[in-house]
Formats: sequence, structure tokens, C-alpha cells
Amino acid sequence: MQITYYGHACFGVKVNGKDLLFDPFISPNEKASAIDVNTIPADFILVSHGHEDHVADVAAIAKRTGATVVSNFEVITWFGQQGIENGHPMNHGGQWKFDFGTVKYVNAIHSSNMPDGSYGGNPGGFVIQSDEGNFYFAGDTALTLDMKLIPETGIKLDFAMLPIGDNFTMGISDAVVAAGFIDCNNIIGMHYDTFGYIVIDHDDAVRQFQAAGRSLTLLNIGESKEL
Ligand code: NI
Ligand code: MN
Repeated sequence: MQITYYGHACFGVKVNGKDLLFDPFISPNEKASAIDVNTIPADFILVSHGHEDHVADVAAIAKRTGATVVSNFEVITWFGQQGIENGHPMNHGGQWKFDFGTVKYVNAIHSSNMPDGSYGGNPGGFVIQSDEGNFYFAGDTALTLDMKLIPETGIKLDFAMLPIGDNFTMGISDAVVAAGFIDCNNIIGMHYDTFGYIVIDHDDAVRQFQAAGRSLTLLNIGESKEL
């Protein structure tokens, strides 16, 4: 699988030839000004919750690419009202088999409303299983014991994107514990540095994961990595 970082909590992951795009927030993100949002490929746009810093570019990219938007029922209903008809609604604990693999919508401890203040359902994360490998996109979340359910239900993760910026989500030390809960050594950091509240010390973050015997990767915006 090839993973590309578009800044904040936005990643593209190529799975079985399909482009999955998570939480697109690019055009309002000054740190991602070098990324041309009009060239990002997407067959599926997976949206963890309704906050602006996760949905800002969903409608434009969905309209351009015809991608299927996957999220909770309320987020999909809201996008339907915006004219994005190609949605796949889910809810917590449910999974669905797509052509690239299986998506499970899992719990996140956070909040969720849409940019216009509409109800955004309950926030979540995604577990993706495919014959190319398995990974977890946590979304915005606190450390929660629910993360233990991923290995408990027999899912062996190859890598995971975890928020590490603190203040709005878990911070570095809780994310180290989360890596243990999900039993995953290969962690990609997200939701850091974009705003003043979530600026982190990169070296300290990498060191804390190392001390726990785990690896933290902090991708540059625009950087791709084969996993
Ligand atoms: Ni949020
Ligand atoms: Mn956020």
C-alpha cells in the first residue's frame, strides 16, 4: 500500500488499485499550500466526523472525482443535502465489504458537528482490511479502551494513523499507550502542528515511541511512503 500525507489528518492510501482519501482538509490549510487539491485522486473519501478540519474539501473532491463518500449516517445525510449523492452511510461497529477490502467504522471519543452547526452524528475511526494489509485510521480521539477491541476481534494491524497533537485529541504519551492497545508497532502521526494548540516537538514524539519499542513516522506534507 502506498500512503501519501496531505497535512493535518488527511492521507491518501492506495489499496488494491483504489485511492482512499481520509479527512480532506487541504485548501484552508496554510501548511498544505503546496498541495494542489484539484489533482488529488480519490475513489473513496472516508470521513471520520463532521468537523471543518476533516471535511473542508470533501464536496469539491467528491464532485470532481465521483468518489463514494463513506462516513457515519448523519455526515452522509448532510452531504446528500449538499448534492453529494454518492454516499455510503455506516455506524459504529458495522463493516462493509468494498471492492478494495473491508471497512469497519469504530468508536472515537470526540465530538462531531457539521461546518454549518448541523448534527454530525458520533465521531469514529476506520479499520481497513484487505489482502494487501490492514490499517487503522483513528480519526480525532482520546485514548480509549475500545481500541483494544481491534486486536481482540482478531485484526492484526500493519500500521495505524493516530492523532498526537494533544488539546483536541490524545497527545503523544497517550498515543504511545494507544499503540499498545491496538498492538501495532508502525504508527503514522497526524493532527499535529496545523494550529497553535497542537504544535508538538517532533524529536520528543519519536523518542517517546522509541522508548516504548514502537516506531513513529512523521511524514512531510506531500510525502509518500510504501507500507
Ligand atoms: Ni474534530
Ligand atoms: Mn480535528
